[in-house]
Amino acid sequence: MQIAVIGNGSVSQKLSALAKSAQIEVIVGARNPNTLSEGVKETSIPMAIDFGSVVVLAIPFLACADLLPPLADKLEGKIVIDATNPLNPDWSPATIASGKSGAEEIAALLPKSKVVKAFNSIFADIMTSERQIRAKGTATAFIAGDDQAAIKTVVDFAELIGFAPLYVGPLPLAKYLEGMAHLNIAIAIGQQGGTDAAFLYDQVKAVSH
Ligand SMILES: NC(=O)c1ccc[n+]([C@@H]2O[C@H](COP(=O)([O-])OP(=O)(O)OC[C@H]3O[C@@H](n4cnc5c(N)ncnc54)[C@H](OP(=O)(O)O)[C@@H]3O)[C@@H](O)[C@H]2O)c1
Repeated sequence: MQIAVIGNGSVSQKLSALAKSAQIEVIVGARNPNTLSEGVKETSIPMAIDFGSVVVLAIPFLACADLLPPLADKLEGKIVIDATNPLNPDWSPATIASGKSGAEEIAALLPKSKVVKAFNSIFADIMTSERQIRAKGTATAFIAGDDQAAIKTVVDFAELIGFAPLYVGPLPLAKYLEGMAHLNIAIAIGQQGGTDAAFLYDQVKAVSH
């Protein structure tokens, strides 16, 4: 699996470092490429997409409507992991006129790609080998999507980088995962609980995927 992470902010830096530690080939695509301290190569967004069989969106949701349509052909056939959350700049939930999830809006912009929602409900602060292991278990990576092979790849990726993957169902369920992220932010920021916090799904009957 070859991973391209789009954006070079907090989520990108943490996820790409985890991938590198797991010996997964990873590159970062950014509009202003730098050299990351973790030693992950950065390049332009189109060049990163060419490299990746799996492309992670680690950019603001509100940037996607302009950024993605010109890249739709380049992303044809690829697995696109939507790690975004529909947020306003003040971190409040952004209104989506259709009432659908942000992930479905992104899938509509990328009709030839296999869009899978993942990692959006995990704080960037938890995307390290130390923080993803909690006192009561491993942080859960909730995953929603429609393409079975793509889901399997994302489940494998989440596990390889140290999370406990949990497939929850088809892409429209991303709406709930985005709600979880809003809740996470409300607790961490609104209630000042901080971002060293994670969801762990405690399931007696494990469902394999
Ligand atoms: N932070 C978290 O804990 C967390 C957890 C889960 C999911 N998320 C979601 O993951 C995404 C990234 O979050 P983050 O915290 O990593 O944000 P961030 O640190 O602010 O980084 C955002 C990245 O997106 C790039 N970007 C912004 N607008 C762009 C545009 N129009 N075209 C291309 N690149 C653009 C920025 O590039 P420039 O530096 O050039 O502006 C930067 O590299 C967001 O959707 C967020 O909701 C965040």
